[in-house]
Amino acid sequence: MNGLFISFEGPDGAGKSSMLQQLVPVLEAHSDHSVVLTREPGGSPIAEQIRHVILDSNNTDMAASTEALLYAAARAQHLHDVIRPALRQGKIVLSDRYVDSSIAYQGAGRELGTDAVAAINRFATNGTMPQLTVYVDVPPAVGIARIQHYRAQPEDRLEEAGAAFHDRVRAAYQALAHQEQQRIVTVDGTQPIQTVADQAWAIIQQRFPAFFNI
Ligand SMILES: Nc1ncnc2c1ncn2[C@@H]1O[C@H](COP(=O)(O)OP(=O)(O)OP(=O)(O)O)[C@@H](O)[C@H]1O
Ligand SMILES: [Mg+2]
Repeated sequence: MNGLFISFEGPDGAGKSSMLQQLVPVLEAHSDHSVVLTREPGGSPIAEQIRHVILDSNNTDMAASTEALLYAAARAQHLHDVIRPALRQGKIVLSDRYVDSSIAYQGAGRELGTDAVAAINRFATNGTMPQLTVYVDVPPAVGIARIQHYRAQPEDRLEEAGAAFHDRVRAAYQALAHQEQQRIVTVDGTQPIQTVADQAWAIIQQRFPAFFNI
């Protein structure tokens, strides 16, 4: 694998997708490597079908363990279809969410246990982890207020979960960032979108100078 794999993590409404829209053209302008932007759950046709089952508001009775396994299944397919082929071709892969989301949301949020969810994800990924994870940290209330303010569509199943759920998700992300300081870098997501994107770009170019012409 000679590419570069970076994941972007954080609570709902942290600004991951907004930041990535700013970041992709910057990386493209400064690199000879192609940039692939992808997202989870989904990212390829089979994985998108699994995404649909996971996020369907009608699936009110889904067991937490089913949910965790479906996320892991979608991830295995996403790796197979998109991430591994791109990395083999030397591309820069940016994934909007990855394993840490499962550990935070299913492990801590749904209270399945972070070790159990990490274990099924080791199987699903065969150990393929990003070289860098940018964690966009915001208090849950900030993220949820942004989503409610801007978004027209109804909430999906996970966004409907309560305040205690979102508190557990954030605490789990913060614990992961503390445990894996080499891989995970925290950016303050309460700053303006442009500042968040600038900080992420500064971290990426500093960590991986060989990928960029600066
Ligand atoms: N730093 C920011 N300051 C103010 N508003 C922001 C900021 N970042 C994002 N927003 C706004 O908040 C909303 C949610 O942002 P975005 O969709 O990027 O979050 P996300 O982290 O991708 O959320 P999700 O996990 O639900 O996909 C958007 O309408 C966006 O314009
Ligand atoms: Mg998003």
